[in-house]
Amino acid sequence: MPVVSPPLIRCPHCKAGHVPSSGELVEGVYAANCQACGHFFKTRAVPTPKSQFSFTVNGQTHTVGNQFSAGTTLNDFLRDTGISHGTKVMCREAGCGCCTVAATLNDPVTNKPKTININSCLCPLYIVEGWTITTTEGLGNGRTGYHQIHQQLAAHNGTQCGYCSPGMVMAMYSFLQKNPSPTMAEVEDHFDGNLCRCTGYRSILDAMKSFAKDAPHHLKATGVDIEDLTRVCKRTGEPCRGQCGGTGPLQIVFASSVWYKPTSLADLYSLLNQHTRDRVRMIFGNTASGVYSDLKLDNFDTLIDIRDVPELNTHTIGTNVVLGGNITITTAIDLLREACNNTLFSYCSLLADHMARVGNTPLRNAASVAGNLVLKHYSPDFQSDIFVVFAAVGAIANIASSVDGKVTQYSMLDFLDLNLAQKVILSIELPPLDAGVVVRCYKIMPVAVNSHSYVSAAFRFPVDRSNNCTITAKPSIVYAGISFTLNNAEKTEQYLVGKALGDAQTLKGALQTLQQEIKPDEDPLLSSAAYRKSLCLSLFYKTCLVVCGNVVGSRIRTGGDNLVRPVSSGKQDFPTKQDEWPLTKPIPKLTAIKQAAGEAVYVNDKPLRVGELHAAFVTTIVGNARIQRIDASPALAMSGVVKFLSAPDVPGTNNCFPGSAAGEELFCSNQVLYAGQPVGLIVAESQQIADAAAKMVKVYYTDIQPPLVDIREAIRQKSFFTQNMPKEMKIGDAASAISSAAHQITGDIQFGGQSHFCLETMICRSEPTEVGISVFPATQWIDLTQKAVAMVLGIEQNKIQIEVSRLGGSYGAKLTRSFSTSCASALAAHLLQRPVKLMMNFNTQMETTGKRPSYYAQYNVGVSDAGLLQGIKLTYYSECGALPNDQLAGGFSYFGDNVYNCPNWDIIPVGVKMNTPPTTYARGPGATPAIFVMETIMEHVAESLGKSALEVKTLNMYQKGQKAFNNYTLSYCNIRELASSLSTSAQIAARQAAVDVFNQNNRWKKKGLAVVPTKYIMVNDSSYNALVNIYAGDGSVTVTHAGIENGQGINTKVAQVCAYELGIPLDSVKVLPTNSSANANTAVTGGSTTSEQNCEAVISACMTLNARMAPVKATMPNATWLELVKACYQKGVDLSALAWVYGSSDRMYQCYGITCTEVELDVLTGEYLLLRSDILYDCGESMNPEIDIGQVEGAFVMGLGLWLTEKIKYDPVTGRNLTNTAWEYKPPSAKDIPVDFRVQLLKNAPNPVGVLRSKAVGEPPLCMSCSALFALKHAISASRKDVAQTDHFPLNGPATVENVQQQCMCGLDQFVYQ
Ligand SMILES: Cc1cc2nc3c(=O)[nH]c(=O)nc-3n(C[C@H](O)[C@H](O)[C@H](O)COP(=O)(O)OP(=O)(O)OC[C@H]3O[C@@H](n4cnc5c(N)ncnc54)[C@H](O)[C@@H]3O)c2cc1C
Ligand code: FES
Ligand code: FES
Repeated sequence: MPVVSPPLIRCPHCKAGHVPSSGELVEGVYAANCQACGHFFKTRAVPTPKSQFSFTVNGQTHTVGNQFSAGTTLNDFLRDTGISHGTKVMCREAGCGCCTVAATLNDPVTNKPKTININSCLCPLYIVEGWTITTTEGLGNGRTGYHQIHQQLAAHNGTQCGYCSPGMVMAMYSFLQKNPSPTMAEVEDHFDGNLCRCTGYRSILDAMKSFAKDAPHHLKATGVDIEDLTRVCKRTGEPCRGQCGGTGPLQIVFASSVWYKPTSLADLYSLLNQHTRDRVRMIFGNTASGVYSDLKLDNFDTLIDIRDVPELNTHTIGTNVVLGGNITITTAIDLLREACNNTLFSYCSLLADHMARVGNTPLRNAASVAGNLVLKHYSPDFQSDIFVVFAAVGAIANIASSVDGKVTQYSMLDFLDLNLAQKVILSIELPPLDAGVVVRCYKIMPVAVNSHSYVSAAFRFPVDRSNNCTITAKPSIVYAGISFTLNNAEKTEQYLVGKALGDAQTLKGALQTLQQEIKPDEDPLLSSAAYRKSLCLSLFYKTCLVVCGNVVGSRIRTGGDNLVRPVSSGKQDFPTKQDEWPLTKPIPKLTAIKQAAGEAVYVNDKPLRVGELHAAFVTTIVGNARIQRIDASPALAMSGVVKFLSAPDVPGTNNCFPGSAAGEELFCSNQVLYAGQPVGLIVAESQQIADAAAKMVKVYYTDIQPPLVDIREAIRQKSFFTQNMPKEMKIGDAASAISSAAHQITGDIQFGGQSHFCLETMICRSEPTEVGISVFPATQWIDLTQKAVAMVLGIEQNKIQIEVSRLGGSYGAKLTRSFSTSCASALAAHLLQRPVKLMMNFNTQMETTGKRPSYYAQYNVGVSDAGLLQGIKLTYYSECGALPNDQLAGGFSYFGDNVYNCPNWDIIPVGVKMNTPPTTYARGPGATPAIFVMETIMEHVAESLGKSALEVKTLNMYQKGQKAFNNYTLSYCNIRELASSLSTSAQIAARQAAVDVFNQNNRWKKKGLAVVPTKYIMVNDSSYNALVNIYAGDGSVTVTHAGIENGQGINTKVAQVCAYELGIPLDSVKVLPTNSSANANTAVTGGSTTSEQNCEAVISACMTLNARMAPVKATMPNATWLELVKACYQKGVDLSALAWVYGSSDRMYQCYGITCTEVELDVLTGEYLLLRSDILYDCGESMNPEIDIGQVEGAFVMGLGLWLTEKIKYDPVTGRNLTNTAWEYKPPSAKDIPVDFRVQLLKNAPNPVGVLRSKAVGEPPLCMSCSALFALKHAISASRKDVAQTDHFPLNGPATVENVQQQCMCGLDQFVYQ
């Protein structure tokens, strides 16, 4: 326990802070010689620092002392106290944005209040003294009226599961406080830190752009009053000043640490000098703990909040540009933009642009410049973008020692070697650079925004342009992301001095020197050393192209330009039939506004019950071993830990997957199948304690073997499941057809899995009841959850009540992968007879939860001269992971022909056994990989025959009435019509010609265009029910149906259908949570058909009700609905109807669609832009086109993640998932979607066999997102052609920036000027 310091006394002469020793302080008067300067002085002791402070949330003042732990975040406070459940939490790393709130605080630079969006998950509670926090609830609600941003988000259908929505709202609210009249581009830039897994962003961006001054008419929000957008202080009636409760020195004593807030540099020095033996952590934004978990505040004894140290908040733009250590990255960007008006600092605009790519907006709002540099110091391989640019331009750090207050200047490189103990970074000075100095900086990263770099680089070249670009003095070539030791390319810098860069020989010599000098570290988590090395070379070359300008040939010169992403836009085109409204009416989700305002309740939002406990899984950290023993005693010794449960504690069966082929242990009892497998459960008084204690449980392993985490290696070792696997499928005689065909084509393709990345992590609350237990899981499958809980607890199903209101995203993750969470929560509640909530933290979820499988396929194809398919032989390997229960190896035999007719097939499905979490369904589970493989084959065929891919694809497309390879007659096949229609609407021929011209004219920029059609087989083989109640008192209606609302809009469609069938207004219908009493024995929500089949059940129930009411209605033809209902009630008519829809595998139809995507590629870096995607989808007669468009866009963008950015990496030694953080795993952001995103729903296309003539939409569009990968492949091919590489190459998925660049085959010999 650290000693609590007495108040500080300040010397009036030198201002040094003093801790009075006994004898010096008598009755509050201090008399002694100053410990720093020796000056004798007497003074009254300063008042004792406060031990508590105040701030406001949504107008309410809160005062906080030491009742929370020092590591408590603002998010913990808001959620755990029940103040805001609209503020969500997921990654706790500032990576997802669902926890965004607005903070109004005093800006030390302007001394005015400013409102910023921050991630409440990393913001320490103890830094918010005097702040005004606004959450989505603070903006408005259903009672007092919603805020305009709530309304716009809902009106544009910008919510699906709704988990990201409050964060989106608060990001916009904060932005409008700073910039009340933004442009659309500024709005789009602002949404770089808020992820949405459902919508595909277009609708959210449209909603937010409605506030932009340059928004087109159709987007513009009407009646926007900026006054209404601003919060007025309840106390003063003025706009918020951000100074509620005032500020001042703080000293708060916690059980194991002390929190200080000094208000002068002298006091900060004193604290550092007093605590030399403690683990000391200064805090500005605390964002560093989102990068390195060992920097989390709970790991330190002495915590010093430096935000109120005025000397660190200074800045000047004069001879130098000086940025105080506390200047946030956002403020630094603003200051740099201001500074660049002076020509000597014009380079600062490039620095500002570069720094605007650090993390995301809320991160930059919270994070300080000094904190970033300290991270680089802390871990020299940290890819600090700020260090790189500062080092390149010759910035100086002013660093003070607290021991003597001495300030020393260090270059950035020297700073790295400094011992930072008792040191404070006061400021950074940026020097003036004259016009002859060229500065360039680059950040190459896996996604467009919100990511660390593969490589960050900055160059400073002092150039004499009049002398063939001679380098007049030592240049700077600085890199981050290469190795622990390399920061600048010293030898190349030396080599260039005095040389003419415009001379081809200089370029060649410099590149050779650089090539020898750069030696990247290999690390399984990083991109390959080869890629990072080639980036170092190509970024240097890019800089040379810029410096040498006109010396360079025009075809090559464009290599120096960076890709610039324009503001994105979307077009939606769909049919609707007004005479059928509310059916076919394009309306947003009925609960959209509640989701936006934080009123929609998710499992984690339900108020805690008295005595409620929290649980966390203990998981394995090796992937292939046996458990020797488990020692939970260190965890049980922690205060607040209640119980540890493991396999022997299970009263029923230790199997949480009833009816599955291989079962699945709830807790691993011996053989470890994968790293991340649950071995036990910690139950504790809080989630924080449970998570911390779970890490303290010691699991001892024996027989540790190398884990199989790579599908190719597993195939090499023939690690296959043999039982429960689909059989080989043979149609005709593929071998003969191939051998006798004019052309034989052989190839292979591999692609990785995908995390579902639901923003609501796995969660379940369970409560013991008089009957048994009530379980509130986030699951897509209540029936099997009930069976699983019954099996684990060893009790009857009728003792278990399950209820699900809504899910915060699922996409297949909560189909079977939710069972373990539900069973573990129910088990703990059952054994302890207390309510227990188990919410998996994000990192555990990434390691534990099964994902979309990875695949490898080998094919052999025979085609005619014209390109007609003759026969296909294919071996299709699918990663099952550790268990084959959700095996998807058979997917090809179902979807693999896509839209193409081939008379002869031989398909061999193989399930691959690996030490990875059991893989599972993910949006479009069987179809997405199968269609990709078939499209790969078609592209390969076209390439081999030298024909256009679209021509070969069209040639082989099914005709109406033909039989698909699974013998199903395609009676309504319209793919040829769709292809022809898209060719016209997307002007494919003309654009392809333009692409070809572009590629001829540019060596280092290439474009590609690809078309992917889809056929998705829908089988309505699941059974659901719906209960419709009409209430006699007022005629209002409730529906309880068996589908789970997971963002797909099922409840809205159900309400529309119910209102249509009963002939009543839509707002008379309310949809209630799905539950195991009303919806017993019903099927899983999945496979895209749930919405239509539940609508069918509702139709059936409504028809029953209409039939029962008909005789009464006949007697009163002019009665209102209420009069009719009352009359029926009085006549004893049963006003409740339960209908059951029995699924059957005969009930089949196909969904068709086609997509064209165009990309532009920067060959030198591998970065790309999705310029345009046109999607034409046959949705039948859409029940709600607005919702269905949202499904198309959301599915497509999720697929873009699969094919382009989301790479899962395992540690080859332990088998642990290395990409278990938002820092490493990269779903698409708002800037990764197509710049021009056009979606059309086919017109006049009623589905003759669909429910209300509609077709499913949730999954099929995802199968077309691989068009982006194929477009990139075309662009890569164009680049390879320039170096005479025309051989076939597979473009494996994901086509990451790294993967794409490495395929372009650009060697040093091509880095030339002409
Ligand atoms: C989601 C996310 C994305 C990110 N993306 C990027 C990125 O793309 N590029 C990039 O370069 N960085 C990135 N970062 C890192 C980020 O820039 C740093 O976390 C941030 O700048 C640290 O500042 P802070 O004020 O939060 O520091 P804190 O977390 O408060 O402190 C960090 C460390 O700095 C010390 N410290 C702070 N101020 C001083 C001072 N004046 N003198 C001496 N020591 C001091 C503290 O003692 C502590 O050890 C990202 C971080 C996150 C969480
Ligand atoms: S939970 Fe805060 S950013 Fe993800
Ligand atoms: S609506 Fe955005 S994550 Fe679901």
